[in-house]
Amino acid sequence: SFVQNGSFEWSAPSNIALVKYWGKKENQIPANPSVSFTLNNCKTITKLKFEKKENNGSFSFDLLFEGQPKPDFRPKIEKFLQRTEQYLPFLKEYHFVIDTQNTFPHSSGIASSASGMAALAMNFMSVEKQLNPQMDDAYFYAKASFLARLGSGSACRSVKGNVVVWGEHSDFAESTNLYGIEFPYILHDNFKNYQDTILLVDKGEKQVSSTVGHELMHGHPFAQQRFAQAHENLSKLKDALVSGDLDAFIKITESEALTLHSMMMTSMPYFILMKPNTLEIINRIWEFRNETDIPVCFTLDAGANVHVLYPENDRVKVLEFIKNELVAYCQNSQYICDEIGNGAQQI
Ligand code: PMV
Repeated sequence: SFVQNGSFEWSAPSNIALVKYWGKKENQIPANPSVSFTLNNCKTITKLKFEKKENNGSFSFDLLFEGQPKPDFRPKIEKFLQRTEQYLPFLKEYHFVIDTQNTFPHSSGIASSASGMAALAMNFMSVEKQLNPQMDDAYFYAKASFLARLGSGSACRSVKGNVVVWGEHSDFAESTNLYGIEFPYILHDNFKNYQDTILLVDKGEKQVSSTVGHELMHGHPFAQQRFAQAHENLSKLKDALVSGDLDAFIKITESEALTLHSMMMTSMPYFILMKPNTLEIINRIWEFRNETDIPVCFTLDAGANVHVLYPENDRVKVLEFIKNELVAYCQNSQYICDEIGNGAQQI
């Protein structure tokens, strides 16, 4: 192609699953459908510079993380390039400089793989679009999500907002295992600017990578029931998101979080990823909800941190509760205020 060089810059947010993806098949195909809130403040910002080189049969890139070379991250990028090359045939024709940073604290226990892989995928799609200018937006975003999925499964849900469905499900005609789609129904006003305050309970290295976790669902004694349950929960959650039924939303969301952790506790080998303070926080949230009737609930990733979810209307009261009672259970009193957001943005 004739494009010699150029640069693009994209931000992509993290996302938090409500119905969890846990278990996958070949080629990053999920064993069950999932749905997530796209976040707004926890983002990766990545600049991609590219310059024509000889196609010498290998990838060539420099990697900067927060301005510094970051050798530990190179293997992940290599793997991304290998997996996506058949869909991005220009990858070996350019030398790339990938310059990336996160808006959230480094090694806070917040996974940056979703936002990072999504930001990278958006940039490579911008190169692809420069080479094929006739490409339409729908294709651009769907393929970006498809590529992000090959980097890290859940990353395919970070391209769009505010609610994204990934994986085939009978209630969603357009749903696919290959990329995330925007929730195709009208979200009830109760969920407008829905809040997610992330309590940093443990910033330590994860005991189990998500790669190993997904693998442990192969031959897991409860796998088939779990996958069937995810389908049912996605149906029920869809209804709650449309009707604004916060009681139903809370039941499904909390049950999904605990189910994710019970899958880890019942796999072989088994893991407990919650910490004592995770349970303290969950119990305090339940007490607070009973005492006040404020519809606040929690969800968890594959780790000890707690995502506290609540309507924007209850923000002042819930933040007061978090500051007065929950911050005591956070490592170095750290927490991050976030909310539902719009997905990747070009800068
Ligand atoms: O995208 P991965 O392979 O890191 O898996 C993420 C899995 C969970 O975060 C635990 C659940 C989810 O659906 O995001």
